[in-house]
Amino acid sequence: MKNISCVILAAGKGTRMKSSVPKPLHKIYSKSMLNYMCEAVEAVGIKDISIVVSSESEEEIAKTVDHKLLVQEKALGSANAILCAKDSLKNKKTDTVLLLYSDTPLITVETLGHLVKSHYEKKAVCTLLTTEVQDPEGYGRILRDEQGEIAKIVEEKDATLYEEVIKEINVGAYCFDKNILFDDLEKIKINPKKEEFYLTDIFDIFNKTGQKINSFVSSNPEECLGINSRNDLAQATSILKKRILSAVMDSGVTLIDPATTHIDFDVEIGKDTVVFPSTIIDSNVKIGKSCKIGPFAHLRSGTEIGNGTEVGNFVELVRTSVGEGCKIKHKTYLGDAVLGNNINIGAGTITANYDGKSKNKTIIEDNAFIGVGSILIAPVKIGKNATVGAGSVVTKKHDVPEGETVAGIPARVMKRKH
Ligand code: UD1
Ligand code: CA
Repeated sequence: MKNISCVILAAGKGTRMKSSVPKPLHKIYSKSMLNYMCEAVEAVGIKDISIVVSSESEEEIAKTVDHKLLVQEKALGSANAILCAKDSLKNKKTDTVLLLYSDTPLITVETLGHLVKSHYEKKAVCTLLTTEVQDPEGYGRILRDEQGEIAKIVEEKDATLYEEVIKEINVGAYCFDKNILFDDLEKIKINPKKEEFYLTDIFDIFNKTGQKINSFVSSNPEECLGINSRNDLAQATSILKKRILSAVMDSGVTLIDPATTHIDFDVEIGKDTVVFPSTIIDSNVKIGKSCKIGPFAHLRSGTEIGNGTEVGNFVELVRTSVGEGCKIKHKTYLGDAVLGNNINIGAGTITANYDGKSKNKTIIEDNAFIGVGSILIAPVKIGKNATVGAGSVVTKKHDVPEGETVAGIPARVMKRKH
């Protein structure tokens, strides 16, 4: 989309979070709110994105996004924040501004797409996203006239009793005609109660000057949640969790107990895999078909698991790839390991992958059998069909040759009885 620039406002003080971390960088699972917003805008096809940040948060935010940052020196309200983008936007060829707040991370790509489409179809001066909620507390209320057209937005602090009960709320996502936005922004007066310039006052100005305000109503209030506090953040996490788990189940995976299953974004799981209760799967994990995972397993980033493999109770895997048909069923830690197919890892096996300076690899080849309570000190390789006896410590660089049996501390090749 060439005609449209996006501006995300992220310079608010975020006081209700009670945090030294800038609010837009608070995470839902392992991704920041701001990153969710940027990814959704990019997925709509909008390339020109700028973010209004405070001088205190600029450095931190710059580390996490590639987009242009504009600094609002003082948090004087949302209308003042968008003015910070005026000079840079005026010089662009774009004629439309998609304006978003950084604290509505659950808005879907589909809804943003509909908002933009409706704006162009209606040739509107402004299109804003609204929704109906059961409990409108904290949100700007949408006031419509007798014809059903938007007359103004009233913020909670300024709402009368009659206005307070209105359930249609301002989500904080708008498309504006760029020139009209910047002309009318200047006319907004400071709100005496909060001593801020409210962007939402622009709708009263539009209405009084006879400019029609278009709206797109989302039928999904959950995606419209604004995050102002840790409680809101927890609510967002539980909404996203529902979305992720339901997509996983729809793709043919059984989750025995969704309530205690935690699956991050960017996880692929093959059909007919069963995930048992209290399992945690971090982002960037791939699991094959017909596997059994859990209960109480933790699969961390960079883990890949082949078809038909079983990973059971209290097993932690990180940056580890496991082939097909393996069994890692109890109390095991494997880090930076590469496992072939049909391997049995006994209970209590540990890879010592970190030597205090660097992380080292453990390679375990096809059909190897690792006895219970073994420690494999990386870098080390256990050859095909090899056996490590129970309670062994295989020391680093003492690779176990193909087909051999080792045992002891340190592990030595067992002499064959002839
Ligand atoms: C705002 C809306 C409200 C809406 C709600 C939706 C206004 C005046 N009110 O209220 O109608 O229902 O969002 O969630 O817009 N910001 C700045 N600089 C500032 C102040 C704010 O960049 O000086 C940014 C914040 O970082 C945030 C956004 O603007 O991303 C909204 O600010 P916030 O204080 O969260 O507004 P709400 O009270 O939630
Ligand atoms: Ca907010």
